[in-house]
Amino acid sequence: MRKILAIETSCDETACALINEELKIETSIVTSQIDVHARFGGVIPEVASRMHVEQISTIVSAALEGHSMDEVTAIAYTIGPGLIGSLHVGAAAAKTLAFFYDKPLIGVHHLKGHIFVNELLGPLEYPLLALVVSGGHTELVYLKDEDSFEILGTTLDDAIGEAYDKVARIIGLEYPGGPKIDKLAKEGKPIYHLPTPKVKGLDFSFSGLKNATLQTVERMRREGKEVDIADLASSFQEVALHHLLDKTLKVLEEKEVRHVLIAGGVAANSRLRELMSEHIKDRKLTLPPLKYCTDNAVMIGVAAFKELKHKRFVPLDAPSRSSLSIVSED
Ligand code: KG4
Ligand code: ZN
Repeated sequence: MRKILAIETSCDETACALINEELKIETSIVTSQIDVHARFGGVIPEVASRMHVEQISTIVSAALEGHSMDEVTAIAYTIGPGLIGSLHVGAAAAKTLAFFYDKPLIGVHHLKGHIFVNELLGPLEYPLLALVVSGGHTELVYLKDEDSFEILGTTLDDAIGEAYDKVARIIGLEYPGGPKIDKLAKEGKPIYHLPTPKVKGLDFSFSGLKNATLQTVERMRREGKEVDIADLASSFQEVALHHLLDKTLKVLEEKEVRHVLIAGGVAANSRLRELMSEHIKDRKLTLPPLKYCTDNAVMIGVAAFKELKHKRFVPLDAPSRSSLSIVSED
Protein backbone atom coordinates (compact mmCIF):
# COMPACT_ATOMS: atom_id res chain seq x y z
CA MET A 1 0.00 0.00 0.00
CA ARG A 2 1.41 3.37 -1.00
CA LYS A 3 1.81 5.98 1.72
CA ILE A 4 2.67 9.66 1.74
CA LEU A 5 4.37 11.56 4.53
CA ALA A 6 3.02 15.12 4.32
CA ILE A 7 4.25 18.33 5.93
CA GLU A 8 2.38 21.65 6.23
CA THR A 9 3.95 24.84 7.58
CA SER A 10 2.46 27.63 5.46
CA CYS A 11 1.21 29.84 8.29
CA ASP A 12 1.03 29.25 12.04
CA GLU A 13 0.40 25.50 12.28
CA THR A 14 3.26 22.99 12.19
CA ALA A 15 1.75 19.73 10.94
CA CYS A 16 2.81 16.31 9.70
CA ALA A 17 0.69 13.33 8.66
CA LEU A 18 1.10 9.86 7.25
CA ILE A 19 -1.73 8.82 4.97
CA ASN A 20 -2.27 5.82 2.73
CA GLU A 21 -3.67 5.54 -0.79
CA GLU A 22 -7.11 4.56 0.52
CA LEU A 23 -7.02 7.98 2.24
CA LYS A 24 -6.87 6.36 5.64
CA ILE A 25 -5.09 8.61 8.09
CA GLU A 26 -2.38 6.61 9.86
CA THR A 27 -1.14 9.57 11.90
CA SER A 28 -1.86 13.28 11.96
CA ILE A 29 -0.09 15.73 14.24
CA VAL A 30 -0.88 19.45 14.33
CA THR A 31 0.60 22.00 16.70
CA SER A 32 -0.71 25.47 16.62
CA GLN A 33 1.21 28.61 17.53
CA ILE A 34 -2.06 30.41 18.28
CA ASP A 35 -1.29 31.06 21.96
CA VAL A 36 1.90 32.88 21.06
CA HIS A 37 0.42 34.90 18.19
CA ALA A 38 -2.66 35.79 20.27
CA ARG A 39 -0.36 37.91 22.45
CA PHE A 40 0.46 40.03 19.41
CA GLY A 41 -3.09 40.11 18.03
CA GLY A 42 -2.14 38.28 14.82
CA VAL A 43 0.51 36.14 13.17
CA ILE A 44 3.99 37.68 13.25
CA PRO A 45 5.82 36.03 10.31
CA GLU A 46 9.27 36.09 11.91
CA VAL A 47 7.95 34.51 15.12
CA ALA A 48 6.04 31.93 13.07
CA SER A 49 9.10 30.72 11.16
CA ARG A 50 11.20 30.55 14.30
CA MET A 51 8.55 28.44 16.01
CA HIS A 52 8.30 26.10 13.01
CA VAL A 53 12.08 25.58 13.28
CA GLU A 54 11.68 24.69 16.97
CA GLN A 55 8.76 22.29 16.34
CA ILE A 56 9.36 20.59 13.01
CA SER A 57 11.66 17.71 14.05
CA THR A 58 9.44 16.75 16.99
CA ILE A 59 6.30 16.86 14.86
CA VAL A 60 7.77 14.76 12.03
CA SER A 61 9.17 12.22 14.52
CA ALA A 62 5.79 12.04 16.26
CA ALA A 63 4.01 11.42 12.94
CA LEU A 64 6.44 8.60 12.19
CA GLU A 65 6.18 6.95 15.58
CA GLY A 66 5.43 3.24 15.17
CA HIS A 67 6.19 3.51 11.43
CA SER A 68 9.34 3.27 9.37
CA MET A 69 10.52 5.31 6.38
CA ASP A 70 10.48 2.05 4.37
CA GLU A 71 6.68 2.32 4.33
CA VAL A 72 6.78 5.80 2.81
CA THR A 73 6.39 6.11 -0.99
CA ALA A 74 6.86 9.88 -1.29
CA ILE A 75 7.35 13.02 0.79
CA ALA A 76 4.92 15.91 0.28
CA TYR A 77 5.03 19.48 1.55
CA THR A 78 3.25 22.78 0.98
CA ILE A 79 5.17 24.64 -1.73
CA GLY A 80 2.94 27.78 -1.55
CA PRO A 81 1.17 30.10 -1.12
CA GLY A 82 1.90 31.18 2.44
CA LEU A 83 4.39 33.03 4.63
CA ILE A 84 7.71 32.53 2.90
CA GLY A 85 9.79 31.96 6.07
CA SER A 86 7.24 29.41 7.33
CA LEU A 87 7.08 27.62 3.97
CA HIS A 88 10.87 27.31 3.92
CA VAL A 89 10.94 25.35 7.16
CA GLY A 90 8.55 22.66 5.88
CA ALA A 91 10.33 22.59 2.52
CA ALA A 92 13.74 22.11 4.16
CA ALA A 93 12.42 19.25 6.32
CA ALA A 94 10.71 17.52 3.36
CA LYS A 95 13.74 17.92 1.11
CA THR A 96 16.11 16.59 3.75
CA LEU A 97 13.97 13.47 4.20
CA ALA A 98 13.55 13.00 0.43
CA PHE A 99 17.30 13.32 -0.14
CA PHE A 100 18.37 11.15 2.77
CA TYR A 101 15.88 8.34 2.18
CA ASP A 102 15.88 8.72 -1.62
CA LYS A 103 12.12 9.33 -1.97
CA PRO A 104 10.29 11.39 -4.59
CA LEU A 105 9.32 14.89 -3.48
CA ILE A 106 5.87 16.40 -4.08
CA GLY A 107 5.18 20.15 -3.77
CA VAL A 108 1.49 20.74 -2.99
CA HIS A 109 -0.51 23.93 -3.54
CA HIS A 110 -2.03 24.89 -0.18
CA LEU A 111 -5.52 25.58 -1.60
CA LYS A 112 -5.59 22.26 -3.44
CA GLY A 113 -5.05 20.71 -0.01
CA HIS A 114 -8.04 22.61 1.42
CA ILE A 115 -10.20 21.54 -1.54
CA PHE A 116 -9.19 17.88 -1.92
CA VAL A 117 -9.35 17.07 1.81
CA ASN A 118 -13.10 16.85 1.19
CA GLU A 119 -12.38 13.50 -0.49
CA LEU A 120 -12.12 12.04 2.99
CA LEU A 121 -15.94 12.09 2.92
CA GLY A 122 -16.22 10.36 -0.47
CA PRO A 123 -15.38 10.87 -4.14
CA LEU A 124 -15.71 14.34 -5.64
CA GLU A 125 -17.99 14.85 -8.65
CA TYR A 126 -17.20 17.17 -11.53
CA PRO A 127 -17.83 19.89 -12.59
CA LEU A 128 -17.25 21.01 -9.02
CA LEU A 129 -17.49 24.38 -7.32
CA ALA A 130 -15.28 25.03 -4.27
CA LEU A 131 -15.86 28.04 -2.05
CA VAL A 132 -12.41 28.51 -0.50
CA VAL A 133 -12.63 30.68 2.61
CA SER A 134 -9.67 31.11 4.92
CA GLY A 135 -7.45 33.66 6.64
CA GLY A 136 -5.69 34.45 3.39
CA HIS A 137 -8.19 33.48 0.68
CA THR A 138 -11.75 34.01 -0.51
CA GLU A 139 -12.18 32.30 -3.83
CA LEU A 140 -14.80 30.58 -5.94
CA VAL A 141 -12.83 27.86 -7.71
CA TYR A 142 -14.41 25.92 -10.57
CA LEU A 143 -13.02 22.48 -11.39
CA LYS A 144 -14.07 20.93 -14.69
CA ASP A 145 -12.09 17.90 -13.56
CA GLU A 146 -9.52 17.30 -10.84
CA ASP A 147 -6.78 18.91 -12.92
CA SER A 148 -8.43 22.07 -14.20
CA PHE A 149 -8.86 25.05 -11.91
CA GLU A 150 -10.59 28.29 -12.81
CA ILE A 151 -10.98 31.21 -10.40
CA LEU A 152 -14.49 32.57 -10.98
CA GLY A 153 -14.37 35.15 -8.23
CA THR A 154 -12.03 36.44 -5.56
CA THR A 155 -11.87 39.16 -2.93
CA LEU A 156 -11.00 42.66 -4.06
CA ASP A 157 -9.61 43.53 -0.62
CA ASP A 158 -9.63 41.55 2.68
CA ALA A 159 -10.03 37.79 2.86
CA ILE A 160 -13.10 36.68 4.81
CA GLY A 161 -11.06 35.14 7.67
CA GLU A 162 -9.00 38.31 7.90
CA ALA A 163 -12.23 40.35 8.20
CA TYR A 164 -13.47 38.01 10.96
CA ASP A 165 -10.17 38.40 12.82
CA LYS A 166 -10.19 42.21 12.49
CA VAL A 167 -13.80 42.60 13.58
CA ALA A 168 -13.05 40.31 16.53
CA ARG A 169 -10.20 42.59 17.54
CA ILE A 170 -12.51 45.64 17.36
CA ILE A 171 -14.87 44.03 19.89
CA GLY A 172 -12.04 42.83 22.12
CA LEU A 173 -11.78 39.14 21.19
CA GLU A 174 -8.43 37.40 20.91
CA TYR A 175 -6.80 36.13 17.71
CA PRO A 176 -8.01 34.08 15.89
CA GLY A 177 -11.37 35.79 16.16
CA GLY A 178 -13.31 33.68 13.62
CA PRO A 179 -14.30 30.85 15.98
CA LYS A 180 -15.09 33.33 18.77
CA ILE A 181 -17.41 35.42 16.58
CA ASP A 182 -19.07 32.20 15.40
CA LYS A 183 -19.82 31.25 19.02
CA LEU A 184 -20.80 34.73 20.20
CA ALA A 185 -23.14 35.33 17.24
CA LYS A 186 -25.33 32.44 18.43
CA GLU A 187 -26.21 34.51 21.51
CA GLY A 188 -27.03 37.64 19.50
CA LYS A 189 -29.44 38.95 16.89
CA PRO A 190 -28.49 40.81 13.70
CA ILE A 191 -30.03 44.09 14.87
CA TYR A 192 -27.29 46.48 13.75
CA HIS A 193 -27.60 47.73 10.21
CA LEU A 194 -24.38 47.01 8.32
CA PRO A 195 -24.05 47.51 4.56
CA THR A 196 -24.17 44.57 2.17
CA PRO A 197 -21.03 44.67 -0.03
CA LYS A 198 -21.87 45.71 -3.57
CA VAL A 199 -19.51 44.05 -6.00
CA LYS A 200 -20.30 43.19 -9.59
CA GLY A 201 -19.95 39.68 -10.94
CA LEU A 202 -18.59 36.93 -8.74
CA ASP A 203 -16.00 38.88 -6.76
CA PHE A 204 -16.15 39.68 -3.05
CA SER A 205 -15.32 42.63 -0.81
CA PHE A 206 -15.11 42.74 2.98
CA SER A 207 -13.24 45.93 3.85
CA GLY A 208 -16.35 48.19 3.64
CA LEU A 209 -18.22 45.88 5.97
CA LYS A 210 -15.26 45.73 8.34
CA ASN A 211 -14.98 49.54 8.42
CA ALA A 212 -18.73 49.98 8.89
CA THR A 213 -18.56 47.61 11.88
CA LEU A 214 -15.69 49.63 13.33
CA GLN A 215 -17.56 52.92 12.78
CA THR A 216 -20.71 51.54 14.44
CA VAL A 217 -18.70 50.65 17.54
CA GLU A 218 -16.91 54.02 17.61
CA ARG A 219 -20.13 56.00 17.11
CA MET A 220 -21.96 54.16 19.87
CA ARG A 221 -19.06 54.56 22.27
CA ARG A 222 -18.91 58.29 21.45
CA GLU A 223 -22.63 58.58 22.16
CA GLY A 224 -22.11 56.77 25.44
CA LYS A 225 -24.23 53.79 24.32
CA GLU A 226 -23.29 50.24 25.18
CA VAL A 227 -22.46 47.95 22.27
CA ASP A 228 -23.94 44.48 22.53
CA ILE A 229 -21.04 42.50 21.13
CA ALA A 230 -23.13 39.37 20.54
CA ASP A 231 -25.59 41.37 18.42
CA LEU A 232 -22.72 43.04 16.61
CA ALA A 233 -21.03 39.66 15.92
CA SER A 234 -24.32 38.31 14.58
CA SER A 235 -24.93 41.42 12.42
CA PHE A 236 -21.43 41.26 10.90
CA GLN A 237 -21.62 37.52 10.34
CA GLU A 238 -25.03 37.55 8.65
CA VAL A 239 -23.91 40.17 6.10
CA ALA A 240 -20.52 38.54 5.48
CA LEU A 241 -21.89 35.03 5.06
CA HIS A 242 -24.85 36.04 2.88
CA HIS A 243 -22.33 37.78 0.62
CA LEU A 244 -20.52 34.42 0.25
CA LEU A 245 -23.79 32.55 -0.24
CA ASP A 246 -25.18 34.98 -2.84
CA LYS A 247 -22.13 34.67 -5.06
CA THR A 248 -22.07 30.90 -4.69
CA LEU A 249 -25.73 30.66 -5.72
CA LYS A 250 -25.04 32.99 -8.65
CA VAL A 251 -22.49 30.50 -10.00
CA LEU A 252 -25.05 27.72 -9.71
CA GLU A 253 -27.45 29.74 -11.88
CA GLU A 254 -24.77 30.40 -14.48
CA LYS A 255 -22.70 27.23 -14.74
CA GLU A 256 -23.05 23.49 -14.76
CA VAL A 257 -22.12 22.28 -11.27
CA ARG A 258 -22.69 18.78 -9.89
CA HIS A 259 -20.92 19.13 -6.59
CA VAL A 260 -20.41 22.08 -4.23
CA LEU A 261 -17.96 22.08 -1.35
CA ILE A 262 -16.52 24.57 1.09
CA ALA A 263 -12.88 24.62 2.15
CA GLY A 264 -10.46 26.46 4.45
CA GLY A 265 -10.58 27.70 8.04
CA VAL A 266 -13.85 29.63 7.70
CA ALA A 267 -15.53 26.43 6.42
CA ALA A 268 -15.59 25.49 10.12
CA ASN A 269 -18.11 28.29 10.71
CA SER A 270 -21.36 26.79 11.99
CA ARG A 271 -23.60 29.45 10.43
CA LEU A 272 -21.93 29.12 7.01
CA ARG A 273 -22.46 25.36 7.16
CA GLU A 274 -26.11 25.89 8.09
CA LEU A 275 -26.68 28.41 5.27
CA MET A 276 -25.04 26.16 2.67
CA SER A 277 -27.14 23.16 3.76
CA GLU A 278 -30.34 25.24 3.70
CA HIS A 279 -29.77 26.71 0.23
CA ILE A 280 -27.99 23.98 -1.72
CA LYS A 281 -30.38 21.07 -1.88
CA ASP A 282 -30.42 20.15 -5.53
CA ARG A 283 -26.80 19.03 -5.90
CA LYS A 284 -24.18 17.21 -3.92
CA LEU A 285 -22.87 19.31 -1.05
CA THR A 286 -19.83 18.46 1.08
CA LEU A 287 -18.89 20.23 4.29
CA PRO A 288 -15.41 19.18 5.44
CA PRO A 289 -14.87 17.65 8.91
CA LEU A 290 -14.18 20.48 11.36
CA LYS A 291 -10.64 19.41 12.21
CA TYR A 292 -9.65 19.41 8.55
CA CYS A 293 -10.98 22.92 7.83
CA THR A 294 -8.10 24.80 9.44
CA ASP A 295 -4.54 24.06 8.35
CA ASN A 296 -3.34 20.46 8.75
CA ALA A 297 -1.05 18.03 6.95
CA VAL A 298 -3.71 15.45 6.06
CA MET A 299 -5.01 17.81 3.38
CA ILE A 300 -1.52 18.06 1.89
CA GLY A 301 -1.27 14.26 1.84
CA VAL A 302 -4.67 13.83 0.15
CA ALA A 303 -3.81 16.38 -2.56
CA ALA A 304 -0.34 14.83 -2.98
CA PHE A 305 -1.85 11.51 -4.08
CA LYS A 306 -3.16 13.30 -7.20
CA GLU A 307 0.39 14.44 -8.02
CA LEU A 308 1.76 10.96 -7.30
CA LYS A 309 -0.75 9.44 -9.72
CA HIS A 310 0.76 11.53 -12.54
CA LYS A 311 4.31 11.25 -11.15
CA ARG A 312 4.42 15.04 -10.83
CA PHE A 313 7.46 15.41 -8.60
CA VAL A 314 9.52 18.49 -7.82
CA PRO A 315 13.34 18.71 -7.73
CA LEU A 316 15.28 19.21 -4.51
CA ASP A 317 15.97 22.83 -5.46
CA ALA A 318 12.29 23.70 -6.08
CA PRO A 319 11.64 27.22 -4.73
CA SER A 320 8.85 27.86 -2.23
CA ARG A 321 6.37 30.54 -3.32
CA SER A 322 4.69 33.06 -1.06
CA SER A 323 2.16 33.70 -3.81
CA LEU A 324 1.28 30.92 -6.18
CA SER A 325 -1.73 30.69 -8.45
CA ILE A 326 -3.84 27.56 -8.35
CA VAL A 327 -4.50 28.01 -12.08
CA SER A 328 -1.10 27.99 -13.72
CA GLU A 329 1.77 26.40 -11.96
CA ASP A 330 5.18 26.08 -13.48
O1 KG4 B 1 -7.26 27.78 6.62
P1 KG4 B 1 -6.73 28.47 7.81
O2 KG4 B 1 -6.35 27.66 9.02
O3 KG4 B 1 -5.45 29.30 7.45
C1 KG4 B 1 -5.27 29.90 6.21
O4 KG4 B 1 -4.89 29.18 5.24
O5 KG4 B 1 -5.54 31.13 6.17
O6 KG4 B 1 -7.82 29.60 8.21
C2 KG4 B 1 -7.69 30.38 9.36
C3 KG4 B 1 -8.84 31.39 9.39
C4 KG4 B 1 -8.71 32.44 10.50
O7 KG4 B 1 -8.95 33.72 9.95
C5 KG4 B 1 -9.81 32.05 11.49
O8 KG4 B 1 -10.34 33.15 12.21
C6 KG4 B 1 -10.85 31.45 10.55
O9 KG4 B 1 -10.09 30.72 9.61
N1 KG4 B 1 -11.79 30.56 11.24
C7 KG4 B 1 -13.11 30.82 11.36
C8 KG4 B 1 -13.67 29.76 12.12
N2 KG4 B 1 -12.66 28.88 12.42
C9 KG4 B 1 -11.52 29.39 11.87
N3 KG4 B 1 -13.86 31.85 10.91
C10 KG4 B 1 -15.17 31.84 11.19
N4 KG4 B 1 -15.77 30.87 11.92
C11 KG4 B 1 -15.06 29.82 12.40
N5 KG4 B 1 -15.68 28.86 13.11
ZN1 ZN C 1 -5.09 27.30 4.96
